[in-house]
Amino acid sequence: MLNHLHSYAIDTYGIPGAQPEQQASEQSWALHQTGASDATVPIASEVAVLKFGSSVLSHERELPRVVQEIYRRVQQQQRIVVVVSALGKTTEQLLQRAYSVSEKPSPSAVAALLRTGEATTMALLSLALGDAGIPHSLLDSLQIGLVTEGPHLDSSPRSLDVDALEAALAQAPVAVLPGFVGHNAKGEATLLGRGGSDLTALYVASHLGADCILYKDVDGIYESDPATSAKLPRRYEKLSWTDAIALGAVVVQHKAIEFAQRTNQRFSVTQVGAVHGTLVGTDKSEWSEGRVSCSPLRVALLGLGTVGRGVYEHLCSQPKHYEVVGIAVRCPERHIQAGVPASLLSSDPWEVIERPCDLVVECIGGCEDTADLLEHALRRQRDVVTANKDVIAYHGERLRSIARVQGTRLRYSASVGGVAPVIETVSHLAAQQSVLRIEGVVNGTTNFVLGRLAEGLSFQDAIQEAQALGFAEADPTADVEGYDAAYKLAILAFHGLGLSLSPQAITCEGISNLSGQDVANAQLRGEVIRLVATCEWKDGEVSATVAPRYLSDEHPLAQIHGEENAVHITTEDGAVHLVAGKGAGRCPTATAVFGDVQVIRTSRALGVFAS
Ligand code: HSE
Repeated sequence: MLNHLHSYAIDTYGIPGAQPEQQASEQSWALHQTGASDATVPIASEVAVLKFGSSVLSHERELPRVVQEIYRRVQQQQRIVVVVSALGKTTEQLLQRAYSVSEKPSPSAVAALLRTGEATTMALLSLALGDAGIPHSLLDSLQIGLVTEGPHLDSSPRSLDVDALEAALAQAPVAVLPGFVGHNAKGEATLLGRGGSDLTALYVASHLGADCILYKDVDGIYESDPATSAKLPRRYEKLSWTDAIALGAVVVQHKAIEFAQRTNQRFSVTQVGAVHGTLVGTDKSEWSEGRVSCSPLRVALLGLGTVGRGVYEHLCSQPKHYEVVGIAVRCPERHIQAGVPASLLSSDPWEVIERPCDLVVECIGGCEDTADLLEHALRRQRDVVTANKDVIAYHGERLRSIARVQGTRLRYSASVGGVAPVIETVSHLAAQQSVLRIEGVVNGTTNFVLGRLAEGLSFQDAIQEAQALGFAEADPTADVEGYDAAYKLAILAFHGLGLSLSPQAITCEGISNLSGQDVANAQLRGEVIRLVATCEWKDGEVSATVAPRYLSDEHPLAQIHGEENAVHITTEDGAVHLVAGKGAGRCPTATAVFGDVQVIRTSRALGVFAS
């Protein structure tokens, strides 16, 4: 099995005594600071280069799947360089347009025109990543100094500004680059030849010492094209460079394989969502041991509100991988009218859990009754994914213990930080050394409201806007009074400091006593107000608080705007690690929930979870 694909498998956030499961990525993409006001620098972190070509990105409707593929690695704290091609047939169409204008187009003008295809994909991907709340940067070939030599339309890369790329990855976990495109020493646009995005990805990966994964429309390299062969051909599990070249480079660009061979670089070829692929660059080629059987994961969904609907759409977009077997909703009729099959809907969540399924995804909210439902699901051998911070803050210990005994999986990444992988980062750091302090903005609604107050809106209008945008809870009291942040802090205290802290033990003050005038006065002093959750060891005791704080506008938490969340984790070596991303809203929360779902599907398929 491919090494890089193994890295999708997870532990249960490294909980002591949890079922032995294959460890996730050993590294973190998070930034760390050497002091409160120093510039952030990247801590050692695994980097992967993922290339999505035209066959994968055939249309912009494929973007959500690509975003999710990127996110499942971000969630495991990898830093990701994404190399993209033009969508579908865009390159051919642009070429035709060049010939429609000029009988003998100049190669440099053709290169300048064709590169707009990659630039368009980058911008579209940026929009999709932005919707999901995943911090990222866009870099063109000039910004990364990808200098080429040779003919304009079939050039070869000669140098890369690795520092520029590293600097971008220190600021955000994802950097998006154009494949296929470079520039020559004169700064003119150049292209790396047909299929040149493969070469871009391998070239960048070789300079970063990163894993390189080429995503295709097939889940690996086959002896012949599986789409046109009468009988399913054999897939290579491993392939030598020489055999890959001899195969005629149907799937991977010839020049790219030759570059990999010259630089002794291994890479993988796989498909979005696949748990296997072909590892290219081994000494000997080997066939896979038969087709990996991956029947769809059967999912029972509890709730079809803001987040549930987003998760449902993700599940339906991958019918090969997921089968929704039931959905519990309050009012089935409303959802039947919205096009959800009646056979899936039930107003009884207990009945939905009883349907034959592998995984229960909980998006109904609530606390006591929901905890009982989840306990039942775990006892019935269902894995469970939830974004419910109330349940985990109050009943996490019980549910984790049941999951441990039952050998089932329990994941709740979205319960803190939305798409910011806060629980993963805190757990990872705590597994390496003592965590002394956790401090952060963990409630999107209050941060959004404080921002809108600063812009002159009334408190009530700001709350209503947050509700309309899907950030605030149905009853915003928990957000406004700081309880939501306290639940999240209790969860982080468990994973980071090993403490079972009841949310009620957390000193909690919300933002309801603040007025627009307070915010304006703070602005006049060069300060901003943030609702900050803090948990730390002080004089041998733990202090845990949620309270509004006046911060200098230079403070890193002052840079967190709208529904963004950010958490600083101080470890015993004095380093401060920062993890950030959108913490509320339909798309970020559904992305994070679905990230957990993907982890479960992958670890089940690989059989890496002991029970
Ligand atoms: N109401 C929560 C917030 C949703 O605003 O942060 C995400 O937990």
